[in-house]
Amino acid sequence: MNMKTSTMKAWVIDQPGRIDALQCLDVPRPVPGPGELLVKVSAAALNFSDLLMVEGRYQVRPPPPFAAGQEIAGRVVQAPAGSTLQPGDRICSKVEWGGFADYALVRETMAIRVPDTLDDAAAATLPVVWPTAWIALHDRAHLQPGETVLVHAAAGGLGLACLQLVRAAGARSIALVGSRKKFDAARAAGADEVVSMEDAWSDIVREHGGADVVVDSVGGDATLQSLRCIARNGRLLLVGFSGGQIPQIPANKLLLKNLSALGVYWSHDWSLPQVERSVAALLDLHARASIRVAPGRTYPFGELPLALRDLAGRGTTGKSVLLASGDAS
Ligand SMILES: NC(=O)c1ccc[n+]([C@@H]2O[C@H](COP(=O)([O-])OP(=O)(O)OC[C@H]3O[C@@H](n4cnc5c(N)ncnc54)[C@H](OP(=O)(O)O)[C@@H]3O)[C@@H](O)[C@H]2O)c1
Repeated sequence: MNMKTSTMKAWVIDQPGRIDALQCLDVPRPVPGPGELLVKVSAAALNFSDLLMVEGRYQVRPPPPFAAGQEIAGRVVQAPAGSTLQPGDRICSKVEWGGFADYALVRETMAIRVPDTLDDAAAATLPVVWPTAWIALHDRAHLQPGETVLVHAAAGGLGLACLQLVRAAGARSIALVGSRKKFDAARAAGADEVVSMEDAWSDIVREHGGADVVVDSVGGDATLQSLRCIARNGRLLLVGFSGGQIPQIPANKLLLKNLSALGVYWSHDWSLPQVERSVAALLDLHARASIRVAPGRTYPFGELPLALRDLAGRGTTGKSVLLASGDAS
């Protein structure tokens, strides 16, 4: 096979801007460099940061033109000499970009072997939000059984993973969602209480005794409201700013309640052992059926712009997944 002349379909951004700037094009199939796998993509999951990358507002800024997409599942087509992975092996992985394509390059050290108990659409949802949820709750907040965790955007990809991990840790969750339409999704993931941003939610959380830990992925006013209902000695986990505003945290609130504000970020470049530990713990929980790793909605490959618009418009629950071909639900 002549890799250099083979082509594939990919969702390409020529000029970062609006979702409409994405084009489905025939482009050269990528050629793996040292330490890289070539993977035939079966399913690619969406992340909130895809929206930021498409708009050129994410911290990772690939040189355009580039294919979007940061999380895939598929089969190894080509592996480096001496690799523990072979052509035909099923893997899933975070990729820096290039996931919304027929083929993607995967760093060998980032590839996760997919157990037979996960199909490709489910496997594609594993590499990003699940380690984030694990690292946030366990490595950063040191969550203890019996504690109460307030989870922002609790019916989203990260949110549903957090709800399940809170339950698996023997802790209690309060799910905060944008609208009542998302109550059922949060409850199905094990939320003990569900509150809507449409209501005076920080008062309601206080009535429930406050939160020992807050997983804050929305930012802006949601962060400030969270400081009203976080309990003494609480841990505020700053995970993202999907609401679009980076909050200014008043330090006096941290002082008066003995609070910790903790950033949550990880990378295969500087925290590989931590990522590997979290993935091992998650696969163990999956094997024991303590968590359910699954997509929210699947979309056919051609519907990436619709899938991204649904995510931007707060219309999704769980992780959306783009399928290489075949059925979408
Ligand atoms: N730090 C890390 O390492 C890391 C890793 C992965 C993800 N993240 C962050 O975690 C967050 C969740 O990521 P995700 O991929 O799982 O996305 P998601 O939660 O599935 O989707 C974003 C959610 O944010 C809420 N939201 C609130 N205000 C919004 C607005 N103005 N526009 C759009 N959405 C808004 C919506 O939920 P409601 O309608 O229920 O409010 C929406 O469903 C993001 O902030 C992301 O950047 C951080």
